[in-house]
Amino acid sequence: MKEIDEIQKLFNTALDKVDTNDDLNEVRTAFLGKTGHLTNAMKLLKDMTAEAKKEFGVGINNLKTKILDMIESKKSELELAKINRELKNMPRVDLTVPCDECTGSLHPVTIIQDRLIQIFRSMGFTVEDGCEIETEYNNFEAVNVPKNHPARDMQDTFYLDNGELLKTHTSAIQNKIMRKYGAPLKAIFPGRCFRNEELDASHENTFFQMEGMMIDKNVSISNLIYFMKTMLTQVFGKEVDVRLRPGFFPFVEPGFELDCSCPYCGGKGCRVCKNGGWIELCPCGMIHPNVLRMGGIDPDEYQGFAFGLGLSRLVMMTYGFNDIRYLNGKDLKILSQTRLK
Ligand code: DAH
Repeated sequence: MKEIDEIQKLFNTALDKVDTNDDLNEVRTAFLGKTGHLTNAMKLLKDMTAEAKKEFGVGINNLKTKILDMIESKKSELELAKINRELKNMPRVDLTVPCDECTGSLHPVTIIQDRLIQIFRSMGFTVEDGCEIETEYNNFEAVNVPKNHPARDMQDTFYLDNGELLKTHTSAIQNKIMRKYGAPLKAIFPGRCFRNEELDASHENTFFQMEGMMIDKNVSISNLIYFMKTMLTQVFGKEVDVRLRPGFFPFVEPGFELDCSCPYCGGKGCRVCKNGGWIELCPCGMIHPNVLRMGGIDPDEYQGFAFGLGLSRLVMMTYGFNDIRYLNGKDLKILSQTRLK
């Protein structure tokens, strides 16, 4: 059948020239479209004798199947060529090359927090976890900051629709710990805190503290000084002195600011201690009787000290960060420097 052979030849030549999907679509239309070669050939059927019709019909149908198959395999061929082209242009990455530089590292806050936990554990403190979302009662009332107390002004935070809030300090966990263990107790509870702050190099809306409490019979300021001095000496790996200055916090009475002799210059004066020789590190004090009472502990029988170590601040000092925002940032070059220490 001359016509069928002709069409097959024509099709082969056209397919050979196909380079793109668009080319292929054109060929498809040229042969199978309304006025395509194959469609036109089929129109010849109606003028043929029954015998010729049978033979030609089978032939043309076989050709149509063949053409459709060839178009499909050309399509796969084009797709494969496209993928190969893209692979060729991709940068070569050898995933089997060993890479010391990309093993990851702990976050600086985690490193210092772990170190503190180890130190306090060795002194008999338990380590507690707290929530980030707290009730207003736990964050304020339970630590002797009643509604409308001016101290609330300094700790504005983010309130949820249900009236709960993101805790402004780890002191918010004190009440739960007292209710959980009763007296005597020795516990630390590190955690993330939040405040609605104007951000700058030393203010962040999200930062870390570590709270500690020791409650027992006959606990005094001497115990507080002893634990703080021992802890800081171990943190800095050298003997440091501590001193207390009066400080006001509603949850302690008396309240103090605890300073530590500068571990970097030994108290002579340097950039870290701003030439003062002392570093303000840790607000603390003797737990207010109201706070003990609200925690279910009898203040006539038990006393205790509490402290709220600024963990983010200690991290910055230890690693020489001059901007607190690095700690919540994503610059791994900065955050992974701690691996060297
Ligand atoms: N919660 C205080 C704050 O974030 C810090 C603090 C001060 C904690 C004195 C204490 C303390 O436990 O005794 O500003």
